[in-house]
Amino acid sequence: MLTTRLIKVDPLRPDRRSIGDAATIIKNGGLVAFPTETVYGLGANALDAAASSKIFFAKSRPTDNPLIVHIADKKQLKIVAKEVPKHVIKAMDSLWPGPISFLLKKSDKIPDTVTAGLNTVVVRMPAHPVALELIKQSGVPIAAPSANLSTRPSPTSAEHVMQDLKGRIDMVLDGGDAFFGIESTIVDVTSHEPVLLRPGAITVEELSKYLGKIIAPNSNVREGAAVAPGMKYRHYAPNSPLYVAEKEFLKESMNALENERVGVLCSKETAAKHKTKNVIVMGSEKDMYEIARNLFASLRKLDELKVNFGLIQEFEDKGIGLAIMNRIRKASSHKAVAIENRYLRIE
Ligand code: TXA
Ligand code: MG
Repeated sequence: MLTTRLIKVDPLRPDRRSIGDAATIIKNGGLVAFPTETVYGLGANALDAAASSKIFFAKSRPTDNPLIVHIADKKQLKIVAKEVPKHVIKAMDSLWPGPISFLLKKSDKIPDTVTAGLNTVVVRMPAHPVALELIKQSGVPIAAPSANLSTRPSPTSAEHVMQDLKGRIDMVLDGGDAFFGIESTIVDVTSHEPVLLRPGAITVEELSKYLGKIIAPNSNVREGAAVAPGMKYRHYAPNSPLYVAEKEFLKESMNALENERVGVLCSKETAAKHKTKNVIVMGSEKDMYEIARNLFASLRKLDELKVNFGLIQEFEDKGIGLAIMNRIRKASSHKAVAIENRYLRIE
């Protein structure tokens, strides 16, 4: 068991000294969890195979699921990737730092452990002062998956990280709640037509302004495809079984469900006046980014309710809703409820 130090930092003006301690851990081959604008990441020196392999152990992550490499400036891109096409550089100039990750040809400096033996690497420059300062002071690119135990919902606060990884890592930098609460968008730019590997905080609509038409914007199309090894694993799962349910069904059943051991995760509009402890309000449908921000924390809250199962509202697959529904479908292992003769049928 390691002693995990929990250090508070100002997310916008981080104290250089506390980040300095974290950077020393990274340089010495240790593990530091840190806030990014999407979710908390679990970082190690991306150029050090032994350090990066500790990430898989700490998270109980299968070693064939590659890690995203985080950089603080464009100079570090050369260390990590090769053959970055001109139009991709232009997109990076507009979108970085930000919640968008590009799949590129990997450089020889990145050890196979990080990319799980693939000849590609996913790179991103996070838009978070703490993350950027940590990478700068460490002086190396940082490999960082989300800082949760494998299969658990991604952490959007330092508390979530401690729930999962206390005793398994060296330090957690607590910079408060993550800004977006949903992971970065991943796009494969190794061929001439960009392919969406994971919908995320930057919408496909926004991304296509810079990259043109993007293939497979449907969240499930690439599932299981060898190109994105992580997609085949169970993800974001709360401990109790979870089912996706239509808004109208939830509204109609809310009264009946109140007396059952069922947790309901829904919008403020759907919950209306039903504010019992088994109803977890994720935000207003008028601001889908609020729902995105609260989604993972709500999945963790469901576990505290000790219910038999959870029902989560279905949202429209557009804008940030595409990323929200991608996470919801995975968290529920694609299980949904349907109404048939007014009885609940679980598929
Ligand atoms: O917002 C984010 O992207 C967060 C923060 C911490 O930066 N990170 C994150 O990492 O979500 P992770 O490991 O939880 O998800 C990365 C996904 C995984 O599904 C992995 O399989 C895929 O990216 N991936 C990474 N490298 C890849 C590669 N070379 N080829 C295909 N897929 C890759
Ligand atoms: Mg993850």
